[in-house]
Amino acid sequence: MGLKRFKTVALIVAFSFVLPVSAALAGAPNTFTRDTRWNDTYSKGMKLFKERCAVCHGENGEGKIGLPLNLQSFLTVASKDYIKKTIVYGRPSRGMPEFGKLLKPEEIDAIATYVKAWQYEPSKAVEEGVVVGDPFEGAKWYKGICANCHGRKGEGGPQVGGGGHVIASFAGFSAPALADPGFQKSATDGFIKATLMYGRIGTPMSSYLKGGQGTVELTEEDINDIVAYIRTMPPVKAASK
Ligand code: HEC
Ligand code: HEC
Repeated sequence: MGLKRFKTVALIVAFSFVLPVSAALAGAPNTFTRDTRWNDTYSKGMKLFKERCAVCHGENGEGKIGLPLNLQSFLTVASKDYIKKTIVYGRPSRGMPEFGKLLKPEEIDAIATYVKAWQYEPSKAVEEGVVVGDPFEGAKWYKGICANCHGRKGEGGPQVGGGGHVIASFAGFSAPALADPGFQKSATDGFIKATLMYGRIGTPMSSYLKGGQGTVELTEEDINDIVAYIRTMPPVKAASK
């Protein structure tokens, strides 16, 4: 075999390995093209995040008085739409401003793009539409298991005296307000359900699904009941801090 022919064969052999790999990558669930436009949006989002969000959520989204945003167990269930809506509506009862009144839609989109880029694990399946359950049954579970941390009326845990959301100080971890109007407007039933099923690894919020890692194990039906109950909570006002 001449050298030229050998080179050709070697090339073909090499490509037969490269092609299937790149094809597999293209089919991966979280792959998308990060072209120049994406890069511009990302850089703009990073700048805005540092200006507007880092003070409460930490430079790298590790959490401070605001919840950590770089947790995989959060990002794999939180859609970009949830993050955008949370920015727009804020958490008025908990000090997060309604940025919909302060930023342009494309700025909000850029920040959400930046936050979503911290995700490296594949997204989990999140139910769409209304989760049907019995709110009366859900209320019993909520009072028994959740109210201690999230408050009897869903007003959230204490925010002062070390009640931030910093991972390092586990004891000072404060549970978010589920009755906050900003949360209620941003979260879908499916997002709440997925949070209960999978929990937030590394935080006091455990997984509640039977067979998950939590100590309290519920069936999917029980979880549906709790989601239905959370939907009936009257909104907490900004003054109730
Ligand atoms: C030991 C305290 C504790 C208990 C008990 C607990 N949670 Fe949580 N929960 C937390 C904390 C802390 C977070 C924030 C975790 C994070 O950093 O992302 C959280 C987050 C959540 C979120 C996400 C809210 C958001 O803003 O994204 C939901 C929904 C939730 N909990 C519902 C419940 C329900 C329903 C129960 C009862 C079945 C429950 N939790 C029990 C502490 C608790
Ligand atoms: C003044 C402090 C503050 C600022 C500024 C702030 N946040 Fe928040 N944010 C919070 C608090 C506090 C919470 C949790 C609410 C609770 O405890 O009930 C939160 C919650 C969130 C959540 C929900 C996380 C989850 O687990 O569901 C997202 C997303 C978020 N903030 C994004 C942002 C982004 C993006 C910015 C910048 C545009 C921002 N926040 C600016 C205080 C702040």
